[in-house]
Amino acid sequence: MQTLHSLDPLRRAVAGLRESGKIALVPTMGALHEGHLTLVRAAREQADHVVVSIFVNPLQFGANEDLDKYPRQLERDCALLEAEGVALVWAPTVEAMYPQGFATNISVSGVSEGLCGASRPGHFDGVATVVCKLFHQVLPDVALFGEKDWQQLAVIRRMARDLDLTQPHVDAVLGVPTVREEDGLAMSSRNAYLTSEQRAQAVTLPMAMKVAIAGIESGEPVEACLSRLNAALLAGGFSSIDYAELRDAENLAPLHARGDTPMRLLVAARIGSTRLIDNMAVEPASV
Ligand code: PAF
Repeated sequence: MQTLHSLDPLRRAVAGLRESGKIALVPTMGALHEGHLTLVRAAREQADHVVVSIFVNPLQFGANEDLDKYPRQLERDCALLEAEGVALVWAPTVEAMYPQGFATNISVSGVSEGLCGASRPGHFDGVATVVCKLFHQVLPDVALFGEKDWQQLAVIRRMARDLDLTQPHVDAVLGVPTVREEDGLAMSSRNAYLTSEQRAQAVTLPMAMKVAIAGIESGEPVEACLSRLNAALLAGGFSSIDYAELRDAENLAPLHARGDTPMRLLVAARIGSTRLIDNMAVEPASV
């Protein structure tokens, strides 16, 4: 497994890999957990060679979000990836990704707005900009992202379509289902910030979401199900709720009633200072 930090060697290495098959890209910010390794395993099924990028992207951190505190564990991450049969780790320096004078911003309207976009202004611009660069740098046949960050996935899919990145470069942007702990909590690097008491309380999130979904699917008014969800989270130890919304699964349009097309329940809530997000499918009425 090669680990590269600058663009010219990356381009040569990627060209070499391409001669002997398809390339799958798994973009990450490192601090890898089982959720990332599941993406890598899914990538191996899609292509002959897996490239994993590890880059803590300063563009997607807000002024009040601690970029410096984000865990950086390159050696440990590389050992995990080598054991998974990854061909290449692309770990650019900040200067390699954003050379002096870098001034371009990719902004995807619509799907970036509301939900996490409301509390993290500029975040999805930073994601879209770095992912667009990664696609051009690695030229993968397929790129894989976790469904846990549903809004991010929607933003990347929209950008890839709008900027014609899906052909000839990236045949497909694939979403991989969220990996969960045994009790149902979605895996996240942020779970490590929870105290043991908060970790026990955090399971309220997937539990309350399932109850809300059951209510919506059985025809109860959406607003009532969402109010109960909010109340259950607060009673279960969450300190505040950023959002709990039913949205169209693809274009993320807000929904106030159960629709006939795929839908998603999306929630972001805080326990202490840790912000957890989750999302789950809601069956359309016609199914
Ligand atoms: O999901 C992430 O880890 C990041 O947002 C991504 C897609 C690697 C872009 O920096």
